[in-house]
Amino acid sequence: MSQLPKAPPADEITPPALYMRRRELLKNAALFAGTASAVGGGLVWLTGGSAGVADVAAPGTPGGEGARAGEGSAPPLPGAAPPPSPPGAVNGRSPFVTDEPRTDYEAIVSYNNFYELGLSKSEPAENAGRLRLRPWTVACEGELKKPEVIDIDTLVRWFPLEERVYRMRCVEAWSMVIPWLGFPLAALLRRLEPTSRARYVQFTTLLDPAQLPGQKSDVLDWPYVEGLRIDEAMHPLTFLAVGLYGKSLLGQNGAPIRLVVPWKYGFKGCKSIVSIKLTERQPRTTWSQAAPDEYGFYANVNPAVAHPRWSQATERRIGELRRRPTLPFNGYAEEVAGLYSGMDLRESF
Ligand code: MTE
Repeated sequence: MSQLPKAPPADEITPPALYMRRRELLKNAALFAGTASAVGGGLVWLTGGSAGVADVAAPGTPGGEGARAGEGSAPPLPGAAPPPSPPGAVNGRSPFVTDEPRTDYEAIVSYNNFYELGLSKSEPAENAGRLRLRPWTVACEGELKKPEVIDIDTLVRWFPLEERVYRMRCVEAWSMVIPWLGFPLAALLRRLEPTSRARYVQFTTLLDPAQLPGQKSDVLDWPYVEGLRIDEAMHPLTFLAVGLYGKSLLGQNGAPIRLVVPWKYGFKGCKSIVSIKLTERQPRTTWSQAAPDEYGFYANVNPAVAHPRWSQATERRIGELRRRPTLPFNGYAEEVAGLYSGMDLRESF
């Protein structure tokens, strides 16, 4: 790995799954030794043509209407417009609502990472029509005094929907600013009453290869699982999104409900959640299992800790030309750094 080119441009960073699959192919072909330069940045080798570069340069290519509304698609959100102000907003400025320019809607719904719907950035939107959004339930289980399997339409009525405008920083070194609609995870957990044994929260994506055809491949261990420590889960910034830009979430963005943790790399944001489980033990999360040297359990945005194959010091905001510095905890350090006091963030990355 150390032979690989260092710090490729962000738009040439190979998504981890492609990288791993490519590594696998190379191994199978007994080509691994001595081919370091051939396995550097760039999506071209597996996807053909200039797909990877085009995905970054032109993120506004939606998957078409068919891709947007799956069979059993979501009804309009209750009270979606106008959303109530988030707590703590003073003159519209608060950690809950950044005043940075919002990424275009078209880019947010057409430039995605959702490996169950495809490995390229454009495939999730193209394949999202396969995802049946209704009926949908979320099993809230494990160390809870009031466990419950909740129908999604009931769940969205339990809490007032808020708009949160958060930066999202992908581990691949691109970023967006997204106006999410949803409610704090803490509101749900409080209602379900974690037991004194609950120390972690595990989130699981739907497992159904017919709807999520990427699950037919073994590129990752399905279903996709993510996790948080309970204090991270209870933090007021931690959010369950059911919409964005005032509309119901589309499949490619993790409909009907997905996690948003703005100070962590985007891969923590588990999509299309069917289970929220409170546990005593730290969950085995998908990416930290697949590539433990590259993706830790914590995954806090940290410009000082490089990914083994590229720097995390800067990022490319989708829609902008110049790279910008990446901020510790993605700019939310004031709110969340205290969660990690006394921890070595290089070790617990
Ligand atoms: N959730 C599932 N189930 N599968 C995935 O492949 N990708 C993650 C995260 N959640 C992913 C997922 C990654 S790497 C990122 S950056 C974000 O989703 C991307 O969210 P977006 O496509 O809505 O921007």
